[in-house]
Amino acid sequence: MNVEVMVEGRRAPGEEPPKWTDDAEVDGFVDDVMRGLRCRPREIPCKYLYDQRGSELFNAICEVEEYYPTRTEMALIAAQLDAIADFVGPGATLVDLGAGNGEKTGMLLDRLEGLRAWVPVDISPVELRRCARRMKRRFPKLTVAPVCADYTGEWQLPATGPGRRVFAFPGSTIGNFSPEEARWFLRSLAEKAGPGGGLLVGVDLHKDRRILEAAYNDAAGVTAEFNKNLLRRINRECGADFRLESFVHQAVYDEEERRIEMRLRSTEEQALWCGGEQFWFDPGEFIVTEHSYKYTIEAFAALAEDAMWRVRGVWTDRRQYFSVWALEAAPEVTGTGR
Ligand SMILES: C[S@@+](CC[C@H](N)C(=O)[O-])C[C@H]1O[C@@H](n2cnc3c(N)ncnc32)[C@H](O)[C@@H]1O
Repeated sequence: MNVEVMVEGRRAPGEEPPKWTDDAEVDGFVDDVMRGLRCRPREIPCKYLYDQRGSELFNAICEVEEYYPTRTEMALIAAQLDAIADFVGPGATLVDLGAGNGEKTGMLLDRLEGLRAWVPVDISPVELRRCARRMKRRFPKLTVAPVCADYTGEWQLPATGPGRRVFAFPGSTIGNFSPEEARWFLRSLAEKAGPGGGLLVGVDLHKDRRILEAAYNDAAGVTAEFNKNLLRRINRECGADFRLESFVHQAVYDEEERRIEMRLRSTEEQALWCGGEQFWFDPGEFIVTEHSYKYTIEAFAALAEDAMWRVRGVWTDRRQYFSVWALEAAPEVTGTGR
């Protein structure tokens, strides 16, 4: 997976320009799928939804009427550009986790004073390459240092020199972790940021289940297509023979767990092959393909504090659908910021 994007902009004299890191061969896909199909409930990690087509379909989901998170988060960012720029401060490196098409952080880039580098990190190589190129065209002087990596595994940030490190994690992607996993992940980010480092994170809020279920079961069927695309990918990459017409997309809100559970439900009794093994499905049996946890302001504040972040700002919309947080890594964090 060689990506030729190597872009440079402001950097100190004699400093090496940041390089493209392409260590994110998503190995383990077949193993993870087989393991997921063997367990009960059957479950496949949601990071695999994002092959090239999956990333394109996610961008299309952001446009559907019922999917309020993207519009709401963008409106919050647009309304708080000055406050966010103040929080990031001058001369920072902005690391965009799960950058996708990069549009949300793109709104910020020309507001940030003396930005040292923008580091989009994503598991989806084609989407990452497109977004890096687009941003470089838009901001020719900006150092763009894309990293194709699975941020749940071992990954390295490129050296971008001194200056504050600020992570951006928009899109309510934090909701794909269980609260326990999110605590662990945020804690590891605090170490990577180092004491005083920053994190801007978009968090979807607990609300009426009808709004949530509509958002993940849009009438045009774009989310269904996004979900079923995983079966296409499994057929292609795992030697499987899923028949897409015998699975339906379903997203249900579990009020107790406060999470959307996205499923692919078998409509009939069937046997299918995957990776040389046969799997049986009863009618109604399903594979979980994504969780999206929803928070209250209090619950997320407590989680962030527990993970060594201090809340410096939180912005929500009038309906309290979504929230954007500015967090600062606690002085006790021991990480070097690498
Ligand atoms: C919900 S989308 C959000 C995209 C964008 N940040 C936004 O706010 O619209 C999640 C993004 O994270 C990426 N992603 C998901 N899991 C990942 C992982 N484990 N490591 C790196 N990127 C991941 C996906 O490829 C996708 O671009």
